[in-house]
Amino acid sequence: MTAFTVMSLVAVAFQLMLLVGGGRASNNTMNCKLTTETPKERDALKLLEPLTNKTFSVVQKTEKDKTYTYEFQVCGDAGGMKGGGLVQKEDGGKAVLVGNYTSTQAIHGSDWVMLIYGEGEKYDQHCSKEKRRAIIMISCDRSTEAGPLKAVLENREWDKDCFYLFELDSSAVCPVLPSKLSVGSVLLLIGVCSFATYLIGGFLYMRLVVGAKGVEQFPHYAFWSEIGNLSADGCDFVCRSRGNRREPHTPTAVATEPLGEEPEERDDHLLPM
Ligand SMILES: *[C@@H]1O[C@H](CO)[C@@H](O)[C@H](O)[C@H]1NC(C)=O
Ligand SMILES: *[C@@H]1O[C@H](CO)[C@@H](O)[C@H](O)[C@H]1NC(C)=O
Ligand SMILES: *[C@@H]1O[C@H](CO)[C@@H](O)[C@H](O)[C@H]1NC(C)=O
Repeated sequence: MTAFTVMSLVAVAFQLMLLVGGGRASNNTMNCKLTTETPKERDALKLLEPLTNKTFSVVQKTEKDKTYTYEFQVCGDAGGMKGGGLVQKEDGGKAVLVGNYTSTQAIHGSDWVMLIYGEGEKYDQHCSKEKRRAIIMISCDRSTEAGPLKAVLENREWDKDCFYLFELDSSAVCPVLPSKLSVGSVLLLIGVCSFATYLIGGFLYMRLVVGAKGVEQFPHYAFWSEIGNLSADGCDFVCRSRGNRREPHTPTAVATEPLGEEPEERDDHLLPM
């Protein structure tokens, strides 16, 4: 019984440690360089840490029968390009940098993060020959660590501010659910843990240091047995103060009571002595 309790307590403590310390070892998002370094954007990027060090890719066919493959990494080199956050590869053609993660913006909403990579390769004709830009919309989906990358659209018909838009579902950007353990149950857990520690520690101390035997091995045995007696008395008082206890004290009751029940009640009174 005691060994079982200790084992389950150790398991609970271990899980709590995992909850507190787990999962935040890498800092790959530090490779992303924000165009304006602000704590808010840095925090948004840190949410994406579980998505780093992975290449996401999507194949897209255009109307002109061209096949493009887009490769994307969060703050890492996609498509084997240094700084290549998002790279477009044409079948049998060259690779084009769409967005460089050394020019990053990150915007965090309630259940999404919008990642913007700038400083891509310049357009040949479109968009006033500005540099390409990639926008990756990462939305909360608790059922997947990281879903497939989807190409939404390439907007290059504008005069400027063109962009390639992608989307990705991930649990990494979901709002944190309120903890399932309420404050009350955490306090209870701590209380139970401390009491178990006290009991086991005290038991070992009494047994090994003091050399106690039998029931005396319980720490503060005298105190606890006193508590036990007191509560028994209290219970006795509360539970029996009404009804049959008072009756025998009234002389009429003693006198008129048939003899049948009397011996039992007398025995009751004798017991505590
Ligand atoms: C990431 O953390 C390691 C130590 O854990 C540190 O040496 C390294 O400089 C950090 N990288 C960045 C980009 O901050
Ligand atoms: C990235 O992943 C590879 C294996 O997939 C691993 O060997 C490497 O250490 C990882 N790098 C970082 C910085 O997490
Ligand atoms: C991305 O930007 C960095 C810093 O401006 C630059 O060193 C790197 O070459 C760029 N990557 C590519 C593929 O152009």
